[in-house]
Amino acid sequence: MAHTLVSEEIEKYSESFTTPETDVLAALNRSTSTRHDARMLSGHIQGALLQMLSHMIKPKYVLELGTFTGYSAICLAQGLQQGGHLHTIDVSNELTGMAASYIADAGLTSAITQHIGKAADIIPTLDYPFNLVFIDADKGNYSLYYDLVFEKVPVGGYIVADNVLFHGEVILPTEEQGKAARSMHAYNQKIATDPRVEQLLLPVRDGLMIARKVSN
Ligand SMILES: C[S@@+](CC[C@H](N)C(=O)[O-])C[C@H]1O[C@@H](n2cnc3c(N)ncnc32)[C@H](O)[C@@H]1O
Repeated sequence: MAHTLVSEEIEKYSESFTTPETDVLAALNRSTSTRHDARMLSGHIQGALLQMLSHMIKPKYVLELGTFTGYSAICLAQGLQQGGHLHTIDVSNELTGMAASYIADAGLTSAITQHIGKAADIIPTLDYPFNLVFIDADKGNYSLYYDLVFEKVPVGGYIVADNVLFHGEVILPTEEQGKAARSMHAYNQKIATDPRVEQLLLPVRDGLMIARKVSN
C-alpha cells in the first residue's frame, strides 16, 4: 500500500494554500528530517490541522502521547487558554533535549511539560481534566490509552488518534494486515461502537480519528 494517501502533488498544492509553518516549526521539520525518520513527525498540513483544532477547542489541558521532536506539541499548544498547560509523554529520552530546545524557541517552555516514560505508567499519575488528548505513540496500545484517558476527559472533550488508516493497510483482509494495521483497525472499531463518543475518521495524512466525548 502507498505510504501517502494523497498524491505528492496534491499535498504540495494543499501546503501552498495553507498558512506557512512558523520559522521554528520549519527549522524543526528540517532538522528532524536530517537526523530521524521524518515520517513520524506530523508535518505542515497535519500540524496546521492540530493547531486549528486547538484554537477551536481552546483547551485548558492537553495530553499528548508520543512527543518525538516536539512538532505536534508546539502545534497543539497554540490554542491553550491563558494559564493552560500541555503534558506530553515519550518513552525515549533520546530526543528530549531537541524537543525542549524547539519548545523554548517557540516560547512555550512554561506551557509544556515533557514526561519521560511509558505512557501507560505516566497517564495514571496525571490528574487533570484533559479537554484534548492526542494519541500518537506505539500503535499496539491505542485502545489501552483510550481506556486510560477516557475518565480524565470531561464530556465535550476530544480524543484524537493518529495513523488510524496505517498507510491504507486497514482495508486489507485481516491475514494481509501487519500487526500495527490490525491494532489500528481494532481501535477504529472500538471507537465506532462506543456510544459515549461521536467520531469522525478524517482521511488526512495517515488518518486521524477524532472522538468527541458525549457521555461518561
Ligand atoms: C510518531 S512519533 C510521535 C510524533 C509526534 N507526535 C509529532 O507529530 O511530531 C511516536 C513517538 O512515540 C514514542 N513512544 C513509543 N512507545 C511509547 C510508549 N509506550 N509510551 C510513550 N511514548 C512512546 C516514540 O518514542 C516516538 O517518539
